Amino acid sequence: MTIEITFNDRTYPVHEGESVLDGLERHGVAVPSSCRNGVCQSCLMRATSGEVPASAQSGLKPTQKERGYFLACQFKPTGNVTVALPDAADQRRFTARVVEKTRLNPTVSRIRLSKPQDFQFKAGQFMRVYRDGESRSYSIASMPQQDYLELHIKVFPGGHFSSWLCQTVQVGEELTIGEATGDCFYLADNLDQPLLMIATGTGLAPLWGVVRDALAQGHRGEIHIFHGSYVRDGLYYMDEFAALAAKFPNVRYYPCVSDDPTESQALRGQADVQALKHFPKLNGWRLYLCGNPDMVNTMKRKAFLAGASLKDILADPFIVTVPRQELPEAPAA
Ligand SMILES: Cc1cc2nc3c(=O)[nH]c(=O)nc-3n(C[C@H](O)[C@H](O)[C@H](O)COP(=O)(O)OP(=O)(O)OC[C@H]3O[C@@H](n4cnc5c(N)ncnc54)[C@H](O)[C@@H]3O)c2cc1C
Ligand code: FES
Repeated sequence: MTIEITFNDRTYPVHEGESVLDGLERHGVAVPSSCRNGVCQSCLMRATSGEVPASAQSGLKPTQKERGYFLACQFKPTGNVTVALPDAADQRRFTARVVEKTRLNPTVSRIRLSKPQDFQFKAGQFMRVYRDGESRSYSIASMPQQDYLELHIKVFPGGHFSSWLCQTVQVGEELTIGEATGDCFYLADNLDQPLLMIATGTGLAPLWGVVRDALAQGHRGEIHIFHGSYVRDGLYYMDEFAALAAKFPNVRYYPCVSDDPTESQALRGQADVQALKHFPKLNGWRLYLCGNPDMVNTMKRKAFLAGASLKDILADPFIVTVPRQELPEAPAA
């Protein structure tokens, strides 16, 4: 059976098992996308007819689900569908001015933006920054009660957004940002639950928000934060986390360095490995995993095997944009 996607009054045949994103792109139709893994929500589309599976709506708001929104990279149609790009009214954009830029280590910069008046978020969520019709996701490190949005950006040489944000954008410039989204935030449903937070690199950004939010909401259980980097230069906010741990007896902070055998002020080894070494049994724990997608996915599996319930594992893999030419071939018809 031929499956057809109708978009902008034109019909495109797609292969069985092919996503809406891949199918449309194969026919030369441009659809915004970034992670191609169901995380960043850049490929949001709406079905005006046809069935949308729940798996293609993971992480969307109930109102979006009701209106037929889906992630084009996750929707592999099994029957004909008619799809559209999101209505402009459903995709709020905000203007935010850069109010501060600070180098946190040789590759990571902190950018603080003025918080737009109607911008709502929970500490630990992420938002998209837009540029020339493209966007990238960045986690918010600040708390909702602060009057700025804090981002921690790691520069990648030649990276379209990270180089621009870290090297070109100046204090005073205005950026266009999208709404906050993501499930990696503090849930105040059990103030005594032990929390294990593991980050690599700028994965620390959402955790800096989540841990302070948890404490602000009166979390009493233990909170253990492991931050990993290959070398010590890749760590940052060591003093800030140490100060938090000194102030709150239930907080412990563990900087980890994996590729420097001479390291003396941090644990030697990967953050996830160190965390499991310290806490091999995770029954009843809630975990927050942010940063390198390999670490996040491996640790998800290991945490589950160590006894953590899947609903208690909250994760933000920082999946980077996959260039079109690096994608595998579409399946044969
Ligand atoms: C939910 C989510 C939250 C995120 N939060 C943050 C955050 O708080 N801080 C942050 O710095 N980034 C974060 N990212 C990653 C961010 O969205 C961008 O992918 C990153 O800044 C690189 O974008 P770029 O435009 O500079 O690179 P691009 O121009 O898109 O990349 C060009 C190429 O460079 C290489 N590259 C780029 N980034 C990486 C990488 N991380 N690892 C390996 N190779 C890479 C890849 O080959 C890539 O194809 C997050 C991503 C997601 C999905
Ligand atoms: S969620 Fe589809 S491209 Fe990121």
